[in-house]
Amino acid sequence: MTISVQGVVARGKGEPVEVTTVLVPEPGPGEALVDVQACGVCHTDLHYKQGGIGNDFPYLLGHEAAGVVEAVGPDVTDVAPGDFVILNWRAVCGRCRACRRGRPWYCFDTRNASQKMTLEDGTTLSPALGIGAFAAKTLVASGQCTKVNPAISPATAGLLGCGVMAGLGAALNTGGVTRGDSVAVIGCGGVGDGAILGAQLAGATTIIAVDVDDRKLEWARQFGATDVVNSRTGDPVAQIRELTGGFGADVVIEAIGRPETCQQAFYARDLAGTVVLVGVPTPEMRLELPLLDVFGRGGALKSSWYGDCLPSRDFPMLVDLHLAGRLPLEKFVSETIALDEVEEAFARMGRGEVLRSVVSL
Ligand SMILES: NC(=O)c1ccc[n+]([C@@H]2O[C@H](COP(=O)([O-])OP(=O)(O)OC[C@H]3O[C@@H](n4cnc5c(N)ncnc54)[C@H](O)[C@@H]3O)[C@@H](O)[C@H]2O)c1
Ligand SMILES: [Zn+2]
Ligand SMILES: [Zn+2]
Repeated sequence: MTISVQGVVARGKGEPVEVTTVLVPEPGPGEALVDVQACGVCHTDLHYKQGGIGNDFPYLLGHEAAGVVEAVGPDVTDVAPGDFVILNWRAVCGRCRACRRGRPWYCFDTRNASQKMTLEDGTTLSPALGIGAFAAKTLVASGQCTKVNPAISPATAGLLGCGVMAGLGAALNTGGVTRGDSVAVIGCGGVGDGAILGAQLAGATTIIAVDVDDRKLEWARQFGATDVVNSRTGDPVAQIRELTGGFGADVVIEAIGRPETCQQAFYARDLAGTVVLVGVPTPEMRLELPLLDVFGRGGALKSSWYGDCLPSRDFPMLVDLHLAGRLPLEKFVSETIALDEVEEAFARMGRGEVLRSVVSL
C-alpha cells in the first residue's frame, strides 16, 4: 500500500523549498522502507536546489539520515524491520568492475530503490543522492541501510551518512593521513571539520584549519585544529607554508568546491604531497595549472567520493568509537529543527551560523 507523508521538495532552480505531500510505494524486491528519525542539512542539498547538480526537478531533498527500517521487500535479508540504520548513498553492487577487483568503495553501479516516490499528482520525484530523507518515510535500496548500534542519537548518527563521513574519509581513506603528518583543511563546514577530526584520529601532529569566518575557525579548534588561518586576512598558501617549516603540508584537503581554493590546496602542500578534493564544483568551473607544476611538484591530486568509505565497514566502527567517547560526533549538531525550517536552515548555513542543522522527525 502506498503511504503519504510530508516531505521537503525543491520544485525548480533557485525556488524556495516547500513541504508537501509525497507518496511512498510499499517496498518491492531489494528495497526497504525507512522511518526517518533525523536528517542533516548538507551543502549538497543546497547545490541541488540551486540547480548545481542537475536539472531533474522536482527533487526530494535530504540525504544525511538515520532511522528505523519499517518494512522490507520480499527477498531482502540484509536488514529487517526494527533495525536502526544510517542511510548511505553508495550501496555497492558487488558485481561491477570495481567491486570485482576488491575496491567496492569505488563501485561504479551503486544501488537505489527501483520504484519512484511521487507527488500527489503522480509527478516523479528525484531523491537527493538517491535518498530523499527530509520526509517522515523514504524508500531506498536495502543496501543503502547500514545497521549500527542504536545507542547513538539519531541526529548524530545521520551525519555519518554524508558530510561528516565524507570529511573523515577524505583524511583517513583518500588522503591516507598517518601519525606525524601535517594536514591543512580549506573550508571548515561540516565536511571540513570531519576532515580535521579524521586527521586528529589518524595522529596528524599539525592540523591547519583555513576558512574566511572566525566562528568556523573557533569550532575547527574544537575538532583538533592546532592552527587556524583566516584567508580573508592574508595569503593562505604562504601561511600554511610558514606553519610547516616553509614547505607546505603533507596532505591538503579542499572542502568547498571552488577553483581558487583548489588552487590554494595545490600550492599549499609539500613536494610529493597529496591534495584531496572533497568540495563539489559546478559544471562551469575550470582549474588551470601550469603543467610543469603538476609534474614538478609530484605527489597526488585525488578527488574523494564519500570519503572512499565502505558503509558496512566504516559506519559501525565510527559509531562504536563515538560511543566509546573517542569521536565527538555530537559536536557537529548545531541545532535540531522541524521539517518546515529547511529553507531557513539553508540561509543560516549561508551566513555561517551553523555546522549542521538537523531535521528531527
Ligand atoms: N565529496 C563528497 O563526497 C561530498 C560529500 C558531502 C559534501 N560535499 C561537498 O563539500 C562541500 C562542503 O560542504 P559543507 O556541508 O561542509 O558546506 P558548508 O557550507 O557547511 O561549509 C563550507 C565552508 O567553507 C567556507 N568557505 C567558503 N568560501 C571560502 C573560501 N573562499 N575560503 C575559505 N573558506 C571558505 C565557509 O565559511 C564554510 O565554513 C560542498 O561543496 C559539498 O557539496 C562533498
Ligand atoms: Zn559495484
Ligand atoms: Zn551531503
